[in-house]
Amino acid sequence: MAAIPVFFGLNLGHFSIKLVEIERANNKAKLQSIGSTPTSVGLLNNDSPTGIQTLAGEVTKAMKNSNIKSKNCVMSVPESAVFSRLITLPKVSDKEVGEAIQWALKPLVPMALEDVNISFLEIDQKTVDGNTFSNWYVVAAPKELIGRYQQVMETAGVELLAVETESLAITRMIVYNYPQVADKDIMIVDMGAESTNVILSRNGIVMFSQTIGTGSNAITKVISSDLGVDMVQAEKYKITYGADPAQAEGRIAKSIEPILQIVTAEIQRTMAYYKEKIGGTGVAQVFITGGGSDLLKYNEYLQSKLGVAVVNANLMANFVQDPTLAQKIQNIHLSSFNVAVGLSLKGLL
Ligand SMILES: Nc1ncnc2c1ncn2[C@@H]1O[C@H](COP(=O)(O)OP(=O)(O)OP(=O)(O)O)[C@@H](O)[C@H]1O
Ligand SMILES: [Mg+2]
Repeated sequence: MAAIPVFFGLNLGHFSIKLVEIERANNKAKLQSIGSTPTSVGLLNNDSPTGIQTLAGEVTKAMKNSNIKSKNCVMSVPESAVFSRLITLPKVSDKEVGEAIQWALKPLVPMALEDVNISFLEIDQKTVDGNTFSNWYVVAAPKELIGRYQQVMETAGVELLAVETESLAITRMIVYNYPQVADKDIMIVDMGAESTNVILSRNGIVMFSQTIGTGSNAITKVISSDLGVDMVQAEKYKITYGADPAQAEGRIAKSIEPILQIVTAEIQRTMAYYKEKIGGTGVAQVFITGGGSDLLKYNEYLQSKLGVAVVNANLMANFVQDPTLAQKIQNIHLSSFNVAVGLSLKGLL
């Protein structure tokens, strides 16, 4: 395989735009540059020429601020923008796979197949009554969205090397940092600002991913309305008291419980689906990540609901430590960089 040129990972989040570049030495990652810039409201969905120009300007600004060295990038597409599903098909020859998947996808995807890029990966095979079936993980991404990303990057003077889903990038980040779970079934919960991604991975491969339209901003909103405070104050309460029932007489924990419950219910549904559809020994561990996952006592809350160990993912657990960047990492909110770190690791795993 040709060596991938040096590149940075770029994640356009609703809360912020994040960039990460690593150095590679002996199959180990060392942080080179990291930085972000806040995302202004509506910026990500504005596909007018001005919108594209503005977004390109923000990317350029963030590159300068983060001291990014390279002019190549790998970007993520939000999980909510793509269609992904595990599809079971009777075993066919390699030549026929593409067409068989197209047929299976047609009734499932809410847009014309010529408007999407389709990629698929075989997960496993099973034999039932002498007939062999394959499970395929299929992703369909709208061409229009990829086209817009290409325009943005061209305007920013950056070469777009590859685009992949957030779930793929996050899973790579976890497997790189926690090689001990690489051969297990794990669940990853990425709580962002506007949405939460729930991912199931087996042997380091994404088996299932889905997005819930409830993220950490919904927690801020409920605090604001329940306590009659503005969003800035509500954000402070969220960060200071979180889901800890021992803080502020448990008022914040109680107020945010219905929101946490929405996310918990979806995780439980996914776990049940997993048992039914793909079997196996069960989820060994749950990793929580994303800016919203640092909610005080959230790990304990989730663990008590699920009965499975819940761990806050350390994005750089397996990185070569660089003392000169320690201060910088202290000053940023590292959990927010989960997707960007995963993208930057592409090619290492
Ligand atoms: N200490 C904290 N405790 C709880 N929530 C926090 C904390 N710090 C930041 N957040 C929240 O994390 C969210 C931002 O997370 P993140 O950067 O992962 O989002 P994003 O990727 O930009 O958004 P999205 O994934 O929805 O596009 C915001 O809602 C913010 O309020
Ligand atoms: Mg995100």
